[in-house]
Amino acid sequence: MSLLIRNGHIITASDSYHADIYIENERIHSIGENLNEDADEIIDASGKVIFPGGIDPHVHLDMPFMGTFSSDDYASGTLAALHGGTTMVIDFILQTQGKSLYDALKTWRGRSDNNCFGDYSFHMAVTDFNENTRKEVRELINKEGITSFKTFMAYKGALMIDDGQMVQLMQEVRDQGGMVTVHATNGDIIDSLIAQHKSEGKLSPLYHYLSQPEITEAEASGRFCDMADYTGVPAYIVHLTCEGALNATRRAGKRNQKIFVETCIQYLLLDASLYEKDFEGAKWVMSPPLREKKDQEALWAGLNQGLVQVLGTDHCPFNWEQKLLGKDDFSKIPNGHPAIEHRMELLYSEGVNKGRISQNKFVEVTSTNAAKIFGMHPRKGCISVGSDADLVIFDPNEEHTISVDNHHMNVDYSGYEGWEVKGKCKHIILRGKHVIDNGIVKIEKGYGQFIKRDKVSKVV
Ligand code: URP
Ligand code: ZN
Ligand code: ZN
Repeated sequence: MSLLIRNGHIITASDSYHADIYIENERIHSIGENLNEDADEIIDASGKVIFPGGIDPHVHLDMPFMGTFSSDDYASGTLAALHGGTTMVIDFILQTQGKSLYDALKTWRGRSDNNCFGDYSFHMAVTDFNENTRKEVRELINKEGITSFKTFMAYKGALMIDDGQMVQLMQEVRDQGGMVTVHATNGDIIDSLIAQHKSEGKLSPLYHYLSQPEITEAEASGRFCDMADYTGVPAYIVHLTCEGALNATRRAGKRNQKIFVETCIQYLLLDASLYEKDFEGAKWVMSPPLREKKDQEALWAGLNQGLVQVLGTDHCPFNWEQKLLGKDDFSKIPNGHPAIEHRMELLYSEGVNKGRISQNKFVEVTSTNAAKIFGMHPRKGCISVGSDADLVIFDPNEEHTISVDNHHMNVDYSGYEGWEVKGKCKHIILRGKHVIDNGIVKIEKGYGQFIKRDKVSKVV
């Protein structure tokens, strides 16, 4: 199988140039001007730009959470991702407290394997660290290609680990060459504010926001950085939302510690005023919550300063009926919102087109850095000879409107209803196959492969 892409304008994390790309089987064979190869298929990319396929390192598909399951499964979620230019996702396996990591791996791979359209991997969430878990961490890194371990400093009683477990896990992961990632918010303070608001009869979605003030994230982020510094483990903060937490990573940087930081598209574009819409605010109930305009500015600047290296989504969709579980009590609203499909187009439209970031930065934060940090580069995240041919052919001029009526995610509302976007993913290539052609899907579920990852690098 061969594919020739002619006349495109290639954008990578470092370069921008006109060239043809010739692909044989799953990999990029050659890149150059006026390539003269005979190919099974030719795509004319005149007037288009070509990026590496997006990597979203923070999604929750078919995940049991708060008494229900996130509404996109591995088929619908990875297909929606492909429509929006994301060719690979990293999802989260959740250990059940009292059970083993391998039990959880088996359950999650039972749901994902042979069901994905796009490529995928997993972070392992460790919710119960003990001597058995320690052995399993070694096996996961060395045998399964699962090299990043998620921890929660909140959701006490279900997912949270204490600081003692955190340090023990960090030491083991450091010794094996892995990465520890974190949901960094102070669970004890949040739980007490939730209880306080409920006892005062304050039950609307606004109180979800008011129960997780900036201090809860800033404090936990600082504590996490300190523990990572003490243990020397490579460390990554997921879904960082606010100036206070960013400053904690800045302080870590001043002592020459490298903390990788991810923010998500919603924290750049949406703010907490949405919680003033009575129960409609439940659409954006997520943890951490949306923040203030000053936090958005800090995050945009953080991208350009290299303090924030990765843009994810924390895609965790729930249908309206599921959100209604918290109609009379904000603490029962399933946390999460849908975004897997629109991360790339929204960032291009709001970031590149509005002059906030360069095209190269766009590629860096939507693809290349995640590939490097999570042990997949140069197989993924770049346009280079020998790399997987994961590409997006993008029309920077096509305008469209985001709506529940045209999105592909399995969820009955959009968090961005009516947003006008300039720039559209037209052709998606995944491991050499033209998988989406102008909106037409040309593969079956099961095409997406589980990607074993290397030990983590420190190159970003
Ligand atoms: O609200 C969120 N973020 N839901 C998914 C779970 C998590 O904390 O990432
Ligand atoms: Zn989280
Ligand atoms: Zn998440």
